[in-house]
Amino acid sequence: MIIAIDGPSGSGKSTTAKILAERLSITHLDTGAMYRAVTWGLIQQNINLRNTAHLIDFLSKINISFNKLNEIFLNGENISLEIRKKDITSRVSLVSSIVEVRSALVRIQREMSEDMDYVIEGRDIGTVVFPNAEYKFFLTADLDIRAERRMNELTKIGEDFTIDEIKNLIEKRDLKDSTRENSPLRKAIDAIEIDTSSLTVNEQIKKIINIIKKNK
Ligand code: DC
Repeated sequence: MIIAIDGPSGSGKSTTAKILAERLSITHLDTGAMYRAVTWGLIQQNINLRNTAHLIDFLSKINISFNKLNEIFLNGENISLEIRKKDITSRVSLVSSIVEVRSALVRIQREMSEDMDYVIEGRDIGTVVFPNAEYKFFLTADLDIRAERRMNELTKIGEDFTIDEIKNLIEKRDLKDSTRENSPLRKAIDAIEIDTSSLTVNEQIKKIINIIKKNK
């Protein structure tokens, strides 16, 4: 069983996917973390994004894994904190618009979820990665609320942003993510849209679990 959760940043995907996976005792896959990991690796290795041969070689050698705490490792190195930092956040949309990056990560995501039940969050899970997912949800929320949520997350890990900076980053990222040529962020026609602006996390989860139970 695949439960796809897509939506823009700050719409509540990560929190929802994490708790939902715990309640259903299945695995949670954060595909945004994978795009961030690739961005981190490309910066580390100083790879010019226009050098396609170099990029393809890098992608053919990457190994992305998660541990039980859902910390992410790139080629054995735990980079869970690094990938949340400002420079990665501001560059990840560009990296995730590159067709070679998307094909490599979509292939890895499909392989990872081959034999197990998964809650998978991202931007293109219900449209491209798993168009036949049993359940598809598309989360949205007002920009102000999304910015506030991101601010709380970033403050917790010591990242220093103003609310306007965050709003600006979110708007830029939304625009890039939803207008890119390759698998842009959009709601799958058969996805259920949930506006989380005025919902608590518990209400969000309850709503999704009720839908899943009803359709079982
Ligand atoms: O969910 P997030 O903010 O950690 O995602 C980081 C970036 O990765 C986001 O700007 C868009 C990209 N992304 C994507 O293109 N496709 C996915 N399935 C997940 C994330």
